[in-house]
Amino acid sequence: MNEINLITKIKVYRIEECSKIEKKLIEEAKKVSQYAYAPYSTFQVGSAILFDDSTILSANNQENAAYPSGLCAERIAVFFANANYPEKRITALAIAAFHEGKFTKNAITPCGACRQVLLETENRFKTPIQIIMYGEDSIYMVDSVKDLLPLNFGEKMP
Ligand code: THU
Repeated sequence: MNEINLITKIKVYRIEECSKIEKKLIEEAKKVSQYAYAPYSTFQVGSAILFDDSTILSANNQENAAYPSGLCAERIAVFFANANYPEKRITALAIAAFHEGKFTKNAITPCGACRQVLLETENRFKTPIQIIMYGEDSIYMVDSVKDLLPLNFGEKMP
């Protein structure tokens, strides 16, 4: 029997340690979380994308009475970006979540389906996407979606 140990490096920051653009993306994600339509979970998520031309696009989660019909903030932002600006590369994405009157203490991390979609965008544009996961107590950052999805299914299709 062999064993493979996978190591993921997550950088943990305090807000004061973030760069100007990281702070701006976090602020934007926090702001748009307030406009989320999440009456069922009451978990409001905001996401802010940074493009390679320094423009920012944001989105939030949208739920539906038929639960699986809703979609996460990250996928709405990425699909909108790829649909409307197919020539732009995404270089970073920040997320923040607001629940029960406050932003989460712990860093909010993307769900598995969003990781898979983000990974495909990263591969398609051959540009790593920095993921900034906001929490009031700590901010997690990875330089590439691959760090959030070890043994991913993607480029090397069977
Ligand atoms: N949600 C997101 O928008 N992004 C995440 O990374 C995690 C979960 C949404 C989906 C659903 O509307 C609500 O948060 C509760 O799961």
